[in-house]
Amino acid sequence: MAERETAAPGPLDGLILGIESSCDETAAALLAPDGTVRASVVRSQIDLHAAFGGVVPEIAGRSHVEHMLPVVEECFERAKASRGDVRAIAVTVQPGLIGSLLVGVSTAKALALALDVPLVPVDHVAAHVWSCFHGVAQPELPAACLVASGGHSTLFAVHTLTRHEKLGETIDDAAGEAFDKVSAILGLGYPGGPIVDRTADGGDPKRFRFPRSLLQKESLDFSFSGLKTAVLYHCKGQNGRGARTLDAQEVRDVCASFQEAVVDVLATKLARLAERIGAKSLAVGGGVASNRRLRARITELAAQMQLPLHLAPRELTTDNAVMVAGLGRHLYAEGVRAGLDLDAHARALAPAAAR
Ligand code: KG4
Ligand code: ZN
Repeated sequence: MAERETAAPGPLDGLILGIESSCDETAAALLAPDGTVRASVVRSQIDLHAAFGGVVPEIAGRSHVEHMLPVVEECFERAKASRGDVRAIAVTVQPGLIGSLLVGVSTAKALALALDVPLVPVDHVAAHVWSCFHGVAQPELPAACLVASGGHSTLFAVHTLTRHEKLGETIDDAAGEAFDKVSAILGLGYPGGPIVDRTADGGDPKRFRFPRSLLQKESLDFSFSGLKTAVLYHCKGQNGRGARTLDAQEVRDVCASFQEAVVDVLATKLARLAERIGAKSLAVGGGVASNRRLRARITELAAQMQLPLHLAPRELTTDNAVMVAGLGRHLYAEGVRAGLDLDAHARALAPAAAR
């Protein structure tokens, strides 16, 4: 079989196993033919990376090797399913840390060979897009979709659940990366997103006017590095090395003001995209989509624009394998397959896996 192939289109007649290992979560999920989640297991490596303030690729890869098979095993146990019930295996092939991706891809290939079932290659960011529509029978399309995570800040026109057109992306830091870096500047810990989200409670989002980088008027791209640097200079002076001590209220105000700046930019660009493509709905997914202020702001935006909103369920915002199996199920039905020469790619190749 070649790396990419097609088969006759048709629905699944058994379980699909999803495998995800693109960054620092080892995950497996089993979905029924109708899309019902039979089991989902996510083993996070946060503890391993916290001491370094970010994901260390070598450590991530080794941890996936250690945990992948136990995670898959636990998934079968929780689903009370046997391997013989599986009809296809969907696996994240791109983009991500290459050493991490390879563990998932090798595991999927070995299982596909042993069980004699087809492989379905899945693009990680496309899977985040799919997560917005989990459980939605008939999404209103095209949808204007934002995926904001630790590695990506991307805007898509979603034409079908398997066909997404990328219309904007970050030219430097991703939104989640900016949260992580600001948390590090404030000495609050890792991963920064949930910590900054909590610390912003009781903070004044208007106390500091941090920059909103909207780029040119027409642009759908993002830039968050200037915002991050503004927070650094605010906290540590113009050379970024000062040791000013911020009191607890100022820390809360910095978090709230920074968060407001990120949310402002994300919401403004999503609205711009929706107008541009004549969207019939809005959708938001990725790790940053669990941010409470972003969820509230996007909910207001959807009401203002009188558009239905598809926010990824919170448990599907950060990396998981339900979204891999979920998108894989649709790709399978369209006849997308991969052979045992399937490879992983750190950077997304042609949008083939996203279709
Ligand atoms: O989707 P994800 O698990 O991994 C990638 O594909 O990158 O996203 C992880 C990112 C991290 O940067 C984390 O700080 C951020 O999502 N994140 C949040 C929140 N929860 C996670 N950012 C802001 N607010 C949150 N509540
Ligand atoms: Zn992700």
